[in-house]
Amino acid sequence: MSDKTISDKTNSTETDNFTLTDNATGKSWNLPAQTGVMGNRLVDIKKLYGETGTLTYDPGFTSTASCRSSITYIDGENGILLHRGYPIEQLAKHSSFMETCYLVLYGELPSPEQKGIFDAEIKGHTLLHDQLSSFYHGFMRNAHPMAIMVGVVGALSAFYHDSIDINDITQRRLAAHRLIAKMPTIGAYAYKYSLGMPFPTPRNDLTYGENLLQMMFCNPAEEYEINPTLSRAIERILILHADHEQNASTSTVRLAGSSGANPYACIAAGIASLWGPAHGGANEAVLKMLNEIGTPDKIGEYVKKAKDKNDPFRLMGFGHRVYKNYDPRAAVMRETCHEVLEVLGIHDPALQLAMELEKVALEDEYFIKKKLYPNVDFYSGIILKAMGFPTSMFTVMFAIGRTVGWVAHWKEMLQDADQKIGRPRQLYLGSKQRDYVAMGDRDISDKKSGWTWLWKG
Ligand code: ACO
Repeated sequence: MSDKTISDKTNSTETDNFTLTDNATGKSWNLPAQTGVMGNRLVDIKKLYGETGTLTYDPGFTSTASCRSSITYIDGENGILLHRGYPIEQLAKHSSFMETCYLVLYGELPSPEQKGIFDAEIKGHTLLHDQLSSFYHGFMRNAHPMAIMVGVVGALSAFYHDSIDINDITQRRLAAHRLIAKMPTIGAYAYKYSLGMPFPTPRNDLTYGENLLQMMFCNPAEEYEINPTLSRAIERILILHADHEQNASTSTVRLAGSSGANPYACIAAGIASLWGPAHGGANEAVLKMLNEIGTPDKIGEYVKKAKDKNDPFRLMGFGHRVYKNYDPRAAVMRETCHEVLEVLGIHDPALQLAMELEKVALEDEYFIKKKLYPNVDFYSGIILKAMGFPTSMFTVMFAIGRTVGWVAHWKEMLQDADQKIGRPRQLYLGSKQRDYVAMGDRDISDKKSGWTWLWKG
């Protein structure tokens, strides 16, 4: 028997709820259910702590919806990904990156006029402040480009003071458009700087993807020729990375933004989170792994390592927190990968190795049982490599594509009446309260010393 109702949510009816019973006291509470337009039912625990004094424990948020959103829908069991309702496969086939940006950011596909205005807005912000270009010279030439991205994007807030007031919607828009516009320039400059080449000027007569390619690969002494297959491939890669709902980097952007931090700082935080090998850094890790495996005869050995609980090695590019089926982006990426390699006439042993590895893993009991399929990063690295991108730039390409998603979630969060500063709780396992011990009276005989012990956890 329930004796309390926690939430006043209107979509919860007498039977559309859950009952939480504290078996220690026999007390129970009704927790309202929430149902989105599609997807799983949720237990609304917003008022749980206030009403019951009880917290929930969910490391990695595997069972927790941290916000409500209308941007992207994923059905991981069935391999479905929709942006504003449109399947990713259709967007990758028919849309351009700019159009997808408009859709993700503003909710609808644009009319020709809206698209024209949006294109012009973005193109109006592709240049970097000249002094920002000199910022690069503070970095070592061999700095990882993601380190430069984190620094330079964060530094935008020191250059564009006219767009850091988050309470002004014109400034919010300006910051959002600036970030989308400047990311290819910032990323390409990180690469050019590593080569010691001059910083190229963005070309506003080109599409977003073409301009990115020309800034990456142009030689100031020569005319840069656009290869239509490559420009289509880069547009697809950007579209496939545009958004992916509440992943680690997007949640980081939302969490940073929830305190009212300026948008440039929030996106820099997202870039930092994306860098990790369990997230956007996986595409770089896939290539490193393929190089390490080397030849198909070594695949068995590495698959065995990946299955060994005592070995930290994982097959990079396999598995996903949400997809327990084939990642729909990976299917498009796989097709694009073959197209690019064929047009460029590349017979890359890394691709052959990847295909073998995919086959072996997909037929292996361990991977089948744990529903570990190749993810988008498994193929993106191979395409980018074939196009001439150095491995260290792979995650930068991901960041450029994902910026629109980060910015769209930041915008949505600021417009949400439910929005609060993100402040998770914890399950405390440390010492109980104790009194300070003078240095000379401390017990130093135990094994709790030495850096290894202190860091092992
Ligand atoms: N190779 C071998 N085993 C794996 C792999 C893998 N790539 N991925 C997961 N597993 C195993 C885990 O060891 C675990 O086994 P257990 O149940 O016996 O403990 C089980 O599968 C579940 O794995 P979790 O880490 O609990 O799953 P989670 O959802 O937390 O992790 C993640 C998802 C991080 C993507 C993981 O699959 C992984 O590390 N993959 C490799 C890195 C990668 O490709 N990342 C890119 C993600 S996609 C993106 O960011 C665009």
